[in-house]
Amino acid sequence: MEFMFGCRGPAVWRFILIVFLGFWSQQISAQISVVPIPKTLAEGSSVLLSVSFTGRIFTFTWYRGETTQNRILLYVPSDDPPEKVSPPYVGRVRGFPNGSMEISGLTTSDSGSYTVQLQTESSQPPTATVNITVSEILGKPSITASLSQPVEHRDSVTLTCGTSSTIQTILWHKERQSLPSNDRMSLSPDNRTLTISNVSIADSGSYRCEVINPVSRSTSDPYTLTVYYGPKNVEINPKGPITKPLKSQLTLDCVTESDPDPNYTWTFNGTIKGHERKLVLTDISFRDQGNYTCEAYNPVTNLSGSASVYVTASDTSVPSVLTPGAIAGIVIGILVLVALIAASIYLFLMKGGGKSNSNEIDMKENTSNPRTDHRNPSPGRNPASQTGEEVNYSEVNFKPNAQKPRQAKPQDNKTEYAEIRRT
Ligand SMILES: *[C@@H]1O[C@H](CO)[C@@H](O)[C@H](O)[C@H]1NC(C)=O
Ligand SMILES: *[C@@H]1O[C@H](CO)[C@@H](O)[C@H](O)[C@H]1NC(C)=O
Ligand SMILES: *[C@@H]1O[C@H](CO)[C@@H](O)[C@H](O)[C@H]1NC(C)=O
Ligand SMILES: *[C@@H]1O[C@H](CO)[C@@H](O)[C@H](O)[C@H]1NC(C)=O
Ligand SMILES: *[C@@H]1O[C@H](CO)[C@@H](O)[C@H](O)[C@H]1NC(C)=O
Repeated sequence: MEFMFGCRGPAVWRFILIVFLGFWSQQISAQISVVPIPKTLAEGSSVLLSVSFTGRIFTFTWYRGETTQNRILLYVPSDDPPEKVSPPYVGRVRGFPNGSMEISGLTTSDSGSYTVQLQTESSQPPTATVNITVSEILGKPSITASLSQPVEHRDSVTLTCGTSSTIQTILWHKERQSLPSNDRMSLSPDNRTLTISNVSIADSGSYRCEVINPVSRSTSDPYTLTVYYGPKNVEINPKGPITKPLKSQLTLDCVTESDPDPNYTWTFNGTIKGHERKLVLTDISFRDQGNYTCEAYNPVTNLSGSASVYVTASDTSVPSVLTPGAIAGIVIGILVLVALIAASIYLFLMKGGGKSNSNEIDMKENTSNPRTDHRNPSPGRNPASQTGEEVNYSEVNFKPNAQKPRQAKPQDNKTEYAEIRRT
């Protein structure tokens, strides 16, 4: 057995060894891996390039890039200190016995690849490469506009989100909402610029851009876009033609849609009358009659518009509800009416009052005293007694007895008689 085994031994053993070594070396190269911890890196932070290796590590070396040329760190555990660090990295890198390296104080220029090479029992030193991306903490972007005073239906404006960073994502917002869909708006491929063509008033508003990267996001201050327009629909209130009485006052108001507010120029018959929105005419005379024109000029849009109104001064003889002339006319009319009534009453009295006059004279002669006395008692009794006395002369003949009991009570009659007697 021993012999046989010994005879066949070397070849078998060599075969087994080759297979085993081959398998083992494959295992070695498969077992090294490097991952950055954490995965997303902000500038100023640290990263551990963490090496996983199952075998024993004698020494290891870290290089910048994908090749083994620019050495960062040589780690020899038996040395004291174990790390040899290349000048640019002094103070920023540390090695660990398990092959890992920590880089602190990261900047965006540290982004890129790093390669580690291990000295192990293997004749072929296992190497591995890892990539890192260091993102900056984004500062506040700012919006600039290609045109500060765009005019409606004429201009296009481009807003640029100003940022020095290399950014994955830029988003635009209007009034804190995502950008409204509008076929006049277009974004550049990187979203850095927003172009609004042929602006309209609806495009006015506050715009913000937001920059986003894996470690931060930041939103600009609002940029207020104002789209200027007008003057449109220039009108004068009140609308013409206007007729005003002499000596009255008239205010003409020039209204229009415009941003910014326009400059106004009022002209009358070719002469400038004012530069306010309202033109006040006082104490209107015939010389104020004519065509009043308001011209509105927008200095930003460089556009102007005008409206005219014709004003006529009217004589006071034309009646109008509340003028002094009308009141005077009414007063005169009333006076005339009163005079006419008075005259007709007078005529009436002159005509049909002859008999009554003689009656009165008779009464005065006969019953002047009783009449004055009768005014003192209550008015209700007056007619009875009065007519009683007066009628006595004229009506006694018709109703000598019947009238007295019906109209007045016995007591009244007595007092009457008493009074009469008294006088
Ligand atoms: C290597 O060592 C460092 C420091 O002790 C540790 O944080 C890291 O997790 C280790 N890596 C692995 C893969 O064990
Ligand atoms: C701009 O828009 C207005 C109405 O939205 C349109 O009438 C005008 O023709 C447009 N102008 C240009 C230059 O596209
Ligand atoms: C551009 O903005 C749109 C939304 O408006 C967004 O969906 C897209 O991801 C952005 N692209 C970039 C490169 O920022
Ligand atoms: C207005 O101008 C016309 C012609 O220039 C002139 O005949 C008229 O008298 C002027 N009216 C007034 C009120 O100045
Ligand atoms: C008033 O003036 C305007 C502008 O000059 C003109 O168009 C209009 O015909 C004039 N109206 C009258 C009644 O004169």
